[in-house]
Amino acid sequence: LSKADILIVGAGFYGATLAERIATQLGRRVLVIDRRTHIGGNAYTEQDPVTGVEIHRYGPHLFHTSNEEVWNYLRGFTGFTSYRHRAFSTYRDKVYPLPINLATICQFFGKRLSPDEARGMIAEQAAELGDRPPANLEEKAISLVGRPLYEAFIKGYTAKQWQTDPRELPAQIIARLPVRYTFDDGYFNDRFQGQPVDGYTAIFEKMLAHDLIETRLGVDFFDIKPLLPKDLPVVYTGPIDRYFDYCEGELGWRTIDIDLEVVNSPDHQGTAIMNYADEAVPYTRVVEFRHFNPERQHGSDKTLIGREYSRFAGRADEPYYPIDTRKDQAIYRRYLERAAAEKNLHLGGRLGTYRYLDMHQAIGAALRAFETVFAPHFTGKLDSL
Ligand code: FDA
Repeated sequence: LSKADILIVGAGFYGATLAERIATQLGRRVLVIDRRTHIGGNAYTEQDPVTGVEIHRYGPHLFHTSNEEVWNYLRGFTGFTSYRHRAFSTYRDKVYPLPINLATICQFFGKRLSPDEARGMIAEQAAELGDRPPANLEEKAISLVGRPLYEAFIKGYTAKQWQTDPRELPAQIIARLPVRYTFDDGYFNDRFQGQPVDGYTAIFEKMLAHDLIETRLGVDFFDIKPLLPKDLPVVYTGPIDRYFDYCEGELGWRTIDIDLEVVNSPDHQGTAIMNYADEAVPYTRVVEFRHFNPERQHGSDKTLIGREYSRFAGRADEPYYPIDTRKDQAIYRRYLERAAAEKNLHLGGRLGTYRYLDMHQAIGAALRAFETVFAPHFTGKLDSL
């Protein structure tokens, strides 16, 4: 520890990107710790011993970005497959493509509609509220897609996701709902998409494989914090409220329980992710991992699936999605003030900034922090982090 120039807490994309940059570009010694026994943070994947498929332990991860810098950076550590994500929703025992597009609309209303006809019909249905501003999530969604599509694809799913009636949820949770008036059923619009050829964990192995980077796993920052030299720069990518011992209150998060099952069939649902929109079905989605890698030989006569159940997170749970109510925002601001008062502390990543970040955003944020904070700091142009 005494040899390290910087300590990075968390071996997810934010921490690993900074570690790689600081070691390779600045020649500094980096100690990376993670309280988990593996690298990769929430993007960690591993091989399932029974079926041989790659499991995404903390939920399905699909890489997509329009940020060329991030894409080029990541391609230094992995190739990408040509995987393009498509999603589907089951509602009342029928399957529809998502996000809502012309195929969904034609199928749902049982008609052949041109883009203009569909647009006109949805606009009419969405006009139900008149000039009255939406008072809750239900009304907001109806004002965007009309009642029939809302009741089929959004109402039950949202109620399960938030464990709350959509009429009790604030309208601002959804700013927009993507409806495409074309038959384009690709899930992401981004220029660059694909899955890493050898899986996500292999990316982290390469990023952290440098003589100046030492990675120690199964180490909780708070166990070693009292032993740290006072002036050691620290990058902390864990939950910000935990860093300050919850002194300003707890930030709200949602989590997902994934119930894994090996199914005695080589192919369970014919696609990677199937949403279940009916409120009566207790899970939100079923993930079938082998479909993320259609290019791989799948010799097994079994397949691995995961049913996802969404719920509010307690302190002992994995925090996944920030709830971000006004109260949370006020608490977060108070933690930011505390962080600004600490010398040589940098809070980053999804948990450290209480923000949902996709992988490309976490990497992009780390690359920016490297340029604006860490490179100037280690070359003597910036005093403290
Ligand atoms: P991340 O959470 O990965 O890493 C933080 C690390 O810090 C963890 O490993 C943790 O153990 C460690 N840590 C925390 N406290 C510590 C302590 N006290 N001591 C030591 N270590 C500590 N993105 C995307 O682009 N496409 C997708 O499809 C998905 N899908 C998806 C599904 C689900 C269910 C979730 C929750 C998230 C996604 N994401 C995603 C987002 C993606 O997971 C996210 O962008 C990255 O995990 C962000 O990386 P970070 O390094 O910020 O956090």
